[in-house]
Amino acid sequence: MTHQPQLSLHLWGHLFRTPIIPAAGPNVGSGRMVRRAAEGGAGGLLTKTISSTAAKVPHPNMARIGKDSLINTELWSELSPEQWFTREYDIALAAAREYQLPLIASIGYTAEDLATLGPRLEQKGIDILEFSVHYLDPQQLIHTARTLRNAVSIPIIAKLSPHTGDLGQIAQILEPYVDGFACINSFGPTLTIDIERGEPLLGSQYGYGWLSGPAIKPLAVRSVFEVARVTTKPVIGIGGVTRGEDVIEFLMAGASLVGVCTAAILKGAEVYGKIAAETAQWLTAHGYQNIEEVKGVYLKKYRDGQPVVTIVDRTAWIDEKRCKTCNLCARVCQFGALSAAPKQIPSIESAYCTACGLCVSVCSFGALELRPRQPVTYPEYAHS
Ligand SMILES: Cc1cc2nc3c(=O)[nH]c(=O)nc-3n(C[C@H](O)[C@H](O)[C@H](O)COP(=O)(O)O)c2cc1C
Repeated sequence: MTHQPQLSLHLWGHLFRTPIIPAAGPNVGSGRMVRRAAEGGAGGLLTKTISSTAAKVPHPNMARIGKDSLINTELWSELSPEQWFTREYDIALAAAREYQLPLIASIGYTAEDLATLGPRLEQKGIDILEFSVHYLDPQQLIHTARTLRNAVSIPIIAKLSPHTGDLGQIAQILEPYVDGFACINSFGPTLTIDIERGEPLLGSQYGYGWLSGPAIKPLAVRSVFEVARVTTKPVIGIGGVTRGEDVIEFLMAGASLVGVCTAAILKGAEVYGKIAAETAQWLTAHGYQNIEEVKGVYLKKYRDGQPVVTIVDRTAWIDEKRCKTCNLCARVCQFGALSAAPKQIPSIESAYCTACGLCVSVCSFGALELRPRQPVTYPEYAHS
């Protein structure tokens, strides 16, 4: 019998069943939706950002981009704080207690908003607060974080946005006032045009919206790495998580938990449990007993970077047994190093190979790798 790897972890004095939790959005936009997240197997719970007043949200405010990303202009909750305090938090808290999951409440944005909302949420029984810097300018950061720190005694997470500047630097500035970080919020603003009608997809002033989903995952992983490099406080990695492998990637970059928004919107609340099951499968297949073993694997190795190689000391090499003769490698090679007739194993002309690595990355069968060669430097390649 295979031993199930351990996914649970203790953070901020609470037990998270798995490292996969909701990130703020309509997927946790009401008490009922938070309950759905618990039923769908989330490892901890979180509620949509509220502020001192209900958001006046443009309509329409969400559109799918490509297969699995989104742009949105949803701002924060359209429900008033009073509605949250008299109804939605009670439903969310009941679900959290029933499923024995910690409940994080997301709030924004000014110091005054946080000074009022923070203590009310602590009194209400919320376990952890997350505050968003999405609409703050950098000069307001310290005052805002310090105000919330002085107002509550429960743990505080700062949720960072990629457009606000150097996230490593911002994390260092905020570190004395917070217990952890979440990054990233959606990226933007961005613009997409419906070319059939020459119209915007969203109802914001210029049709601008914030990008989320797999389109922003590399930015999110880089941001988590940058923040984890400068702080020992836990980081929630958010941005484009749709499957177990994404969780592993964020954990390796230094995250302790991951947040999921877009995938939960497009695929339903079951996605939290599904991603957790895939994470467990990946760990088992790779011989890991628990998530701690993969945490920071990349961070520890590359915290200070790697030597940059500019000489060409490797060349593409093909494993003929694995090659399915799809010829994709030959099609993408920009240097004429790989050539193939239909249904034939490509031949490699090492003199033309610049070891750019693209062929290795497009091969779905693991048939290509870069192998050592006699080093050459540009312009010694036989560029045609
Ligand atoms: C429709 C929508 C609404 C969102 N609303 C909020 C919000 O109220 N507060 C917040 O901090 N982030 C909000 N986000 C950002 C997400 O929490 C998350 O940081 C971002 O979308 C990246 O994760 P993802 O790729 O899993 O969606 C929203 C995202 C979407 C798509």
